[in-house]
Amino acid sequence: MTQKILLLPGDGIGPEITAEAEKLLTVLRDRHGLDVSWTSAPIGGAGYDAAGHPLPPATLEAAKAADAILLAAVGGPQYDKLPRELRPERGLLGIRAALGLFSNLRPALLYPELADASSLKPELVANLDILIVRELTGGIYFGKRQTGVETDYKVGSQIIPSARVARDTEAYSDFEIARIARTAFEAARLRGKKLCSVDKNNVLESSQLWREVVIEVARDYPDVSLSHMLVDNAAMQLVRAPKQFDVVVTSNMFGDILSDIAAQLTGSIGMLPSASLNERGQGMYEPSHGSAPDIAGKGIANPLAMLLSVAMMLRYTLARSDLAGAIEAAVRKVLASGLRTGDIAKPGEATVNTVAMGDAVIAALG
Ligand code: IPM
Ligand code: MG
Repeated sequence: MTQKILLLPGDGIGPEITAEAEKLLTVLRDRHGLDVSWTSAPIGGAGYDAAGHPLPPATLEAAKAADAILLAAVGGPQYDKLPRELRPERGLLGIRAALGLFSNLRPALLYPELADASSLKPELVANLDILIVRELTGGIYFGKRQTGVETDYKVGSQIIPSARVARDTEAYSDFEIARIARTAFEAARLRGKKLCSVDKNNVLESSQLWREVVIEVARDYPDVSLSHMLVDNAAMQLVRAPKQFDVVVTSNMFGDILSDIAAQLTGSIGMLPSASLNERGQGMYEPSHGSAPDIAGKGIANPLAMLLSVAMMLRYTLARSDLAGAIEAAVRKVLASGLRTGDIAKPGEATVNTVAMGDAVIAALG
């Protein structure tokens, strides 16, 4: 049966890198027997411009009907003044919530050819291969919010008679913790069999429950070695000795922060794909980088994270790991041949543009 892909180009460099993904999909369909069809819809700032909302109803409907979604990036300075509910990010958060995409896989893989691009010493990051599993539909991102004037607000031992107060709530249920823990244990089983669960259990109630439930789930995975780390230490360990990690599982907020640190370890966020999955295996795939408004429209963005997101989509939703592997091999080949976009070039090194990089990957696919 033909599987349906929804393309969400979004903002900034989004449309440029989506064009490269579309080129790749066309080749996979026409030459490699991939049975897919696709359509595209506006999201983020583009959704706001086209339909007055970052997640137009038609886009949401198309997303629900798709087997897989390929999202490029959302956001741009022209939307910064919009109220929170209309900001481009709401498009992304809305799809995560509506489709129940609770499981966010963020690999941080160092390509040996790009070892110099890391801000850490080469020996610390050589062959780095970490997977961050981030809970994506719970925690403080989706907890109860409130802003208003409160009386007798306590600040330490002081009482402020009248204060403007804003609240966000971190809440996790055992159900949510157990299902993301299972995803992480399963992932660890297929990799180095090491899982580190990151929390702030010395301070937060929600983290105490997190740790308890992860330990309960661990009973079903005796073959995976489980450790626990406080988030501040985890941030430090990631830049001190990142290779101690295999799979890391953590909450929405901590995962947001730690995955950016992990991405920087590899030197180029322009190289990293990610997947957000629900219980049915439906998935949204996106580069870990943002919309890069500073280089938008110039045709110089690195399309590799987007093309590698296509590879993740083939592996996790479309059940074509053979083609996923072929794309990943093609990217390695292109890097080995010395081709670089600006973000991964050394000072003074020649660079190619977005289209040339996309073409090279397709050519290397054979
Ligand atoms: C990410 C991004 C999003 C997040 C923003 C754009 C809402 O930073 O995917 O990591 O915080 O989840
Ligand atoms: Mg983030």
